[in-house]
Amino acid sequence: MVELLPLSDIEPQAIEELLDAAFGTDRFGRTAYRIREGMDAVAALSFAAVEDSALVGTIQCWPVAHLAANGIATPLVMVGPVAVRPDLQRGGHGRTLMAHMLDAAETRADSALMMIGDPEYYGRFFGFDAGATGAWDLPGPYEKRRLLARVVNGHGLPVTAGMIGPR
Ligand SMILES: CC(C)(COP(=O)(O)OP(=O)(O)OC[C@H]1O[C@@H](n2cnc3c(N)ncnc32)[C@H](O)[C@@H]1OP(=O)(O)O)[C@@H](O)C(=O)NCCC(=O)NCCS
Repeated sequence: MVELLPLSDIEPQAIEELLDAAFGTDRFGRTAYRIREGMDAVAALSFAAVEDSALVGTIQCWPVAHLAANGIATPLVMVGPVAVRPDLQRGGHGRTLMAHMLDAAETRADSALMMIGDPEYYGRFFGFDAGATGAWDLPGPYEKRRLLARVVNGHGLPVTAGMIGPR
């Protein structure tokens, strides 16, 4: 049986090993890491999936912001990485973790959600799309179609040009 726990209950080393297995040890160069550089994860929106005492998946969320040219900053929560142990992928853990985070976000997120991810997965199951993000910019390479966002807990999305970075 899978248990969903606050990510803070899990040994940091076990989380890093899972992320290395899911994304590779070169993951730190990714644009997503630059967006949230120096930030601590949002504890209320970061979870672990544990099965028979073993860590099988994680989801982390980060406080970031959209900074417009006029200096106005709009807070956002960046979702990800979502990671499932490679030998257990496509078994529903990713969907369980995302659904659990979204449930929590419906009442606890302090801003709308954004992420870099496949619309074929995060659009199909979780309501993310690239509709608001066309004029956004990121501090590194990315595919525009994979820059996704979603309103939550009454928080809307900025649609103007702006750079996404740490809050
Ligand atoms: C992406 C990931 C989190 C999905 O979790 P999962 O537990 O493997 O997948 P689930 O069982 O929840 O979902 C399975 C369904 O999603 C689909 N799916 C999974 N990953 C997908 C992707 N990247 N693009 C499109 N569809 C995808 C599967 O085809 C399956 O659809 P089906 O039910 O119609 O067959 C997981 O595979 C993973 O850790 N991948 C490596 C790291 C990664 O790329 N993370 C996402 C970026 S933050």
